[in-house]
Amino acid sequence: MVPTIRWEGSSVYLIDQRKLPQMLEWFVCRSIDDVITAIRDMVIRGAPAIGIAAGMGLALGSQSLNTDDYTTFRREFLEMTRRMKSTRPTASNVGWAVERMVKIVVEMRNHEVSAIKEAVRRESESMLERDIEANRNIGQNGMRLVPDRANILTHCNAGALATGGYGTALGIIRAAFEAGKQIHVFVDETRPLLQGMRLTAFELVEDGIPFTVIVDCAAGYLMKKKRIDLVITGADRIALNGDTANKIGTYQLAVLAKENEIPFYVAAPVSSFDPNLENGDGIPIEERGHEEVVFFAGQQIGPDHVRAYNPAFDVTPCQYISAIITEKGVVTPPYRSSIKGLFKGPEI
Ligand code: MRU
Repeated sequence: MVPTIRWEGSSVYLIDQRKLPQMLEWFVCRSIDDVITAIRDMVIRGAPAIGIAAGMGLALGSQSLNTDDYTTFRREFLEMTRRMKSTRPTASNVGWAVERMVKIVVEMRNHEVSAIKEAVRRESESMLERDIEANRNIGQNGMRLVPDRANILTHCNAGALATGGYGTALGIIRAAFEAGKQIHVFVDETRPLLQGMRLTAFELVEDGIPFTVIVDCAAGYLMKKKRIDLVITGADRIALNGDTANKIGTYQLAVLAKENEIPFYVAAPVSSFDPNLENGDGIPIEERGHEEVVFFAGQQIGPDHVRAYNPAFDVTPCQYISAIITEKGVVTPPYRSSIKGLFKGPEI
């Protein structure tokens, strides 16, 4: 799989995911503004991937600050972090990446500005490497929960494209397949932007993993017919009690899974947990433009002047989640103490 995001010289290259699977094109970011546009317009998407992009964007931004004075540098850097944080509000990973960069800038207050810029860039590179490593560990931890011959339902795209590489929910599917398990994946097409149909399907084709795309509203029917053995999704933000925000439609899948006694798993790196949120009530839900619903592949599909409501995420209450699979292990209910434990000890 071609990496979703990478440094090349002093530019950041992103696969333009709006154009997949028809075209594999690079979107080149030469400034923090380019990265902010790319995240907002969903050139790059998926919580871990936009976290890494935010880190790289801040590194690009810091390079452009034309001062040797630490106080001026810090003030302008903090201003950039505010803009970066507002790009897409639901994913925890953007704030997580921003906080790490701020920590470096604060801790290096007695260094030359040029050294701080270097450190910020190095940190953005290491975020990418560590995310891939985390995904591989999520894959190993999660694949034990996948029985041989399982039919797995997934929603949206939580794959290599949504992360530094390999994927979270799709990382578990990959790891199970690589371990020789005979699995089949049902992929929700994921209206309105079709991340399932366009991106998850693209990744599964590349890896030769058997799958079938379904329309989002077919999931309940398949569960009732006992054609789904487990559900695995990614996450955008997880509160301390385990309430989880993910792509709109995830909540109804979790309720249907519980009704049909099917395990519902969430896969996410520690960077997707929000240690400051007690529960999901405080998770900000991004609302996107109505044209994403009213238009399909550039074609208007509703009557003129039709309005559509387009929340991009929903929150699944923790009681519907059988387990959360992280790079540090699998956490099970009751979640609060085990999630707090994820923040102790070294990062993996
Ligand atoms: O709007 P998107 O495409 O950024 O939404 C992505 C999701 O909801 C993913 O499931 C989530 O970010 C996890 S990606 C590993």
